[in-house]
Amino acid sequence: MDNAALYLDLLKKSLTDTLVATEPDVDAGRARFAVDFLNHYIRGRAVTMLPRVRLDHLQACIEDVLRRGVPGDLLEAGVWRGGAAILMRAVLKVHGAADRCVWAADSFQGLPEPDAARFPKEAAAYHGPVVRDAYHRLAVGLDAVKANFAAYGLLDGQVRFLPGWFKDTLPHAPIGRLAVLRLDGDYHESTRDCLVHLYDRLSPGGYLIVDDYGEDEWTDCRAAVDGFRAERGIAEPMVQVDRRCWYWRRPG
Ligand SMILES: C[S@@+](CC[C@H](N)C(=O)[O-])C[C@H]1O[C@@H](n2cnc3c(N)ncnc32)[C@H](O)[C@@H]1O
Repeated sequence: MDNAALYLDLLKKSLTDTLVATEPDVDAGRARFAVDFLNHYIRGRAVTMLPRVRLDHLQACIEDVLRRGVPGDLLEAGVWRGGAAILMRAVLKVHGAADRCVWAADSFQGLPEPDAARFPKEAAAYHGPVVRDAYHRLAVGLDAVKANFAAYGLLDGQVRFLPGWFKDTLPHAPIGRLAVLRLDGDYHESTRDCLVHLYDRLSPGGYLIVDDYGEDEWTDCRAAVDGFRAERGIAEPMVQVDRRCWYWRRPG
């Protein structure tokens, strides 16, 4: 490994808190995984709840758009403690990409309340004890996220924050082209808001990553994506990263 690869490997271990500990095993069974997830991510020190395979894939997407000269910034919608967006900024830095920035969009006050009439599955989870009491609805404030970027020496002018609900911030955000668009807002409405307001800014050859496409137990994310793709006649096949995360590449 060269120095850049070593740095990014160490960074990913730090962001996932897997330098010593191992990440929760999604194949260990539902109950075991749920307990391990709570302890490792929510109660633990990890700065991202993404498993390593998704961080490796995110890095590969960014390096691919840099190599092929696909124009545009990188955006994550739904950042929690900021870890995946921190990796985005680190990959730009490692490759000397000074002309692109990382957009970090989040309410910075956690998940929105789903419409129970339209999305009963999501609403039941939102009001249930796990998401409400244990996850604190994934609320992490903007100052805490900025402090995490700063802790890694990666809070600078190439990181832009969009605080607020996606439906309010994204339509008017001063974003130009995007080369990598990472959706991690869990819910149907959150995912759809991002697709409606951001997909047209994705450059040909750019990547659209949907973290929760396979998260069918407590979200309707898949339906939001399938509906949008059908409406827009998007025929590029979706490719599976792991059990829950999928992506496609815009042709061009
Ligand atoms: C699963 S977490 C994101 C995990 C993160 N990408 C990581 O690296 O660990 C989901 C995030 O989406 C945010 N979110 C969900 N729906 C949103 C919406 N409609 N507007 C703004 N933020 C939203 C929540 O505040 C939360 O921080």
